[in-house]
Amino acid sequence: MRHAVIMAGGSGTRLWPLSRAGRPKQLLDLVADDPSDERSGAHSLLEEAFGRLRAVLPADRIWVCTAARYGEQVAAALPDLRADRLILEPVARDTANAVGLAAALVEDVDPGAELAVVSADHVIRPVERFAAALGAAYDALAERPDALVTLGIRPTSPATGFGYVQRGAATGLPGVAEAASFREKPDRATAEEYLASGQYLWNSGMFVWRARTVLDALAQHLPATAEGLRRVVAAPAGAQRDAVLAEVFPTLPKISVDYAVLEPAAAEAGRVLVADLDVEWLDVGSWPALAHTLAGDEQGNAARGLTVFVDSHRNVVFSDDPEHLVALAGVSDCVVVHTRDVTMVCPASEAERVKQLLAAVEGTR
Ligand code: GDD
Ligand code: MG
Repeated sequence: MRHAVIMAGGSGTRLWPLSRAGRPKQLLDLVADDPSDERSGAHSLLEEAFGRLRAVLPADRIWVCTAARYGEQVAAALPDLRADRLILEPVARDTANAVGLAAALVEDVDPGAELAVVSADHVIRPVERFAAALGAAYDALAERPDALVTLGIRPTSPATGFGYVQRGAATGLPGVAEAASFREKPDRATAEEYLASGQYLWNSGMFVWRARTVLDALAQHLPATAEGLRRVVAAPAGAQRDAVLAEVFPTLPKISVDYAVLEPAAAEAGRVLVADLDVEWLDVGSWPALAHTLAGDEQGNAARGLTVFVDSHRNVVFSDDPEHLVALAGVSDCVVVHTRDVTMVCPASEAERVKQLLAAVEGTR
């Protein structure tokens, strides 16, 4: 049967000071209302990801994989998530291990299962086209049961924070090609070449495969993880399995599924397929990216909360305190984020340095 798992264990440090160790970005109420959506008020990216999958699957085949410390918040945010579909990692070991753990548990309850892996940090519109693309990727498994299918997005810039998939031979399936190569987070010059060539798509970070296929790929490319996961599912579900997981998981190599599986697998002809995902897609990875989800004014400012702008242009301003006014005069191209205990200001062009800032702050505490 078809299942899906939402990867929701990242920490989202580039949205500091709003995202914190205890409250990562996928759980923040970042997304303002979509007029076509009946939910009212701002909501989280995780709720959106779950809602998107509900368009395709019944709730009992949607799983969420996250860090144990976010477990209660995830359960509270998703009342329709079944308790036994919430996978808790004792420590974060990045997505190769998270995907592997989910695949092992899904395969354990439903041998032969087809598993979609989706991210929790994307804004995607419209849901209907996402649902159609995901359906086409599942359908591809009927023809190519051992394929690793990635959902690819047409790139609009030489971004270095994404994976790039090179379109290769046609498969005969609509919107699905073989991947000729896969390169995770290339440097700027390489990304520019890829963009100019017109042959590459961004890896959306969303995949479809049989659970068994990705476990086999891990056995081939990340054997320590495959072996560790075998030990986990060999233990009976419940306290015993949790104990083995707590012992095994911290010892696994920390690496993402893109580096560990997709890059090497794409070197085998016909092993990785890429399905077109033709949607408005935003990886909400940084403050400037988040600006697209905020209310805009005619001076190009994007804001949430009480704000006043005088002669100020193209700023991103976010205040999570409804009674606190943020006022800017003669300031342009900046990010200003106000939270109860931290105010952060930086030029928009240097928003990536939030990570450095966070490290410096941690050093002073
Ligand atoms: N459960 C779990 N455990 N989830 C995790 C972990 C973990 O240890 N680490 C990250 N995640 C979740 C994040 O919350 C996010 O939803 C998703 O996995 C992807 O992780 P990111 O850390 O955001 O990855 P990225 O953005 O650098 O790169 C990935 O996504 C890009 C598209 O957004 C890659 O797949 C790229 O190739 C891709 O282009
Ligand atoms: Mg991301």
